[in-house]
Amino acid sequence: MASAHNALRVFFILAVVCAVCTAKRTGANKEESAAAPGGAAGGSGGTFDISKLGATSDGKTDCTKAVQDAWTSACEATGSATVVIPKGDYLVGPLNFTGPCKGSNIAIQLDGNLLGSNDLDKYTASWIELSHVNNIGITGSGTLDGQGTAVYSKSKTDNVKAMPNTLVLFHVINATVAGIKLLNSKFFHINIDNSESITVKDVNITAPADVENTDGVHVGGSSKISILNSTIGTGDDCVSIGPGCNGVLVDSITCGPGQGISVGCLGRYKDEKDVSDITVRNCVLKNTTNGVRIKSYVDAESVLTASHLTFENIRMEEVANPIVIDQYFCPQKVCPGKRSNSSHVSVKDVTFRNITGTSSTPEAISLLCSETQPCSGVSLIDVNVEYAGKNNKTMAVCSNAKGTAKGSIEALACLV
Ligand SMILES: *[C@@H]1O[C@H](CO)[C@@H](O)[C@H](O)[C@H]1NC(C)=O
Ligand SMILES: *[C@@H]1O[C@H](CO)[C@@H](O)[C@H](O)[C@H]1NC(C)=O
Ligand SMILES: *[C@@H]1O[C@H](CO)[C@@H](O)[C@H](O)[C@H]1NC(C)=O
Ligand SMILES: *[C@@H]1O[C@H](CO)[C@@H](O)[C@H](O)[C@H]1NC(C)=O
Ligand SMILES: *[C@@H]1O[C@H](CO)[C@@H](O)[C@H](O)[C@H]1NC(C)=O
Ligand SMILES: *[C@@H]1O[C@H](CO)[C@@H](O)[C@H](O)[C@H]1NC(C)=O
Ligand SMILES: *[C@@H]1O[C@H](CO)[C@@H](O)[C@H](O)[C@H]1NC(C)=O
Ligand SMILES: *[C@@H]1O[C@H](CO)[C@@H](O)[C@H](O)[C@H]1NC(C)=O
Repeated sequence: MASAHNALRVFFILAVVCAVCTAKRTGANKEESAAAPGGAAGGSGGTFDISKLGATSDGKTDCTKAVQDAWTSACEATGSATVVIPKGDYLVGPLNFTGPCKGSNIAIQLDGNLLGSNDLDKYTASWIELSHVNNIGITGSGTLDGQGTAVYSKSKTDNVKAMPNTLVLFHVINATVAGIKLLNSKFFHINIDNSESITVKDVNITAPADVENTDGVHVGGSSKISILNSTIGTGDDCVSIGPGCNGVLVDSITCGPGQGISVGCLGRYKDEKDVSDITVRNCVLKNTTNGVRIKSYVDAESVLTASHLTFENIRMEEVANPIVIDQYFCPQKVCPGKRSNSSHVSVKDVTFRNITGTSSTPEAISLLCSETQPCSGVSLIDVNVEYAGKNNKTMAVCSNAKGTAKGSIEALACLV
């Protein structure tokens, strides 16, 4: 299909530029499917255990069909259905968990480990994609192991193939992802796209510190999202919140290594929607390159606003750039317009409150707002981040950031 092909191409090209900004397209298939999938006969609820549907737990035998069949049966069942992945290692390729489903709700009980196939030709944009499904829970103490370590270096040198996200929720309403581990995703670990009422909690996400695009949880175009009580350490953003999000709570996250918690990138594409009501609180960032950050493209393609953003009760431990607003974001100098030096993304009503700890560079705060679109309503309240190194002191680098400061280290109170 030509459009899918183009989407994939776009997806790939931008992946080189900025992982977060590629997240716009994630679904492997955007077409609405009115009918539930065919296959196994529907029944009233029930449990569909992959080990009884032909899966072998040796981590080597391809179990894609057994897992896909379990899903199909669960989705066809009326009432409430459970897909069981028992203890053991199961090698699987792309899984397409598309609804709408017939029953009231589905549980995926992940006790074992799913290992992502490294046959890249099998994938489009995702490994495990839930699409058009409501009322679903993915819980257990098992692992979604992307097995990325075998393909990371390859993807860096010959950027030929788009890497798949590990778990995608696309047009999903009312889902919980709890307790599980996600390991070494080939691309983003969890990508929540065009969804609503989603909770991710008690998860542990781990990938090498030096592999980009391995974001922990990315959210785009979604509302009523909570990301709670989790430990995330990867080579990219622990949590990134893209365009079109409103009502996102990030609470009690331990982040690091990685690039911190960010809102953005904003403005990369045409027709992006506003971002509002984002709260990040009670988090600890350890040895990350950024702490909390808002980033928008210089010469953005969209006119949009990011507002009502609150970052509070956050401890920094040797974070390179603890607080950042960057309206000049332009990774590798590949920017959408390159026309002028103005931003079309306005950033307003941003509160940084009770932010403490240490910074590994002197510039603890960097608020780079544009002349044409100054940041407004920025509050720095009780912001006390000290430079961790010797022979220098904590400082702020700011331009065009308007607002008020109180209770903060004087050198950091750079607002006008
Ligand atoms: C996923 O399944 C749905 C319906 O079952 C189908 O329409 C769609 O083409 C499938 N997507 C992929 C990528 O296989
Ligand atoms: C949300 O989904 C869960 C199953 O995961 C279900 O028990 C609950 O009733 C659903 N909530 C709503 C409001 O539908
Ligand atoms: C937080 O998550 C851990 C698992 O990582 C769990 O043991 C603990 O009970 C959770 N705490 C809360 C308050 O839910
Ligand atoms: C998270 O998983 C990593 C890798 O499996 C492990 O080293 C770490 O102890 C785990 N952290 C928590 C809080 O469970
Ligand atoms: C901080 O991160 C860098 C790069 O990821 C790593 O080399 C270094 O050992 C880390 N330091 C600490 C104290 O964890
Ligand atoms: C400030 O944040 C820390 C966590 O970083 C928390 O322990 C403390 O209670 C907070 N203080 C206030 C006054 O809220
Ligand atoms: C654009 O703004 C940046 C940041 O203020 C500045 O460094 C750069 O020189 C400007 N470029 C042009 C073409 O005005
Ligand atoms: C302190 O840090 C600033 C910013 O990184 C740098 O420009 C300056 O030279 C440093 N001062 C000393 C004495 O190292």
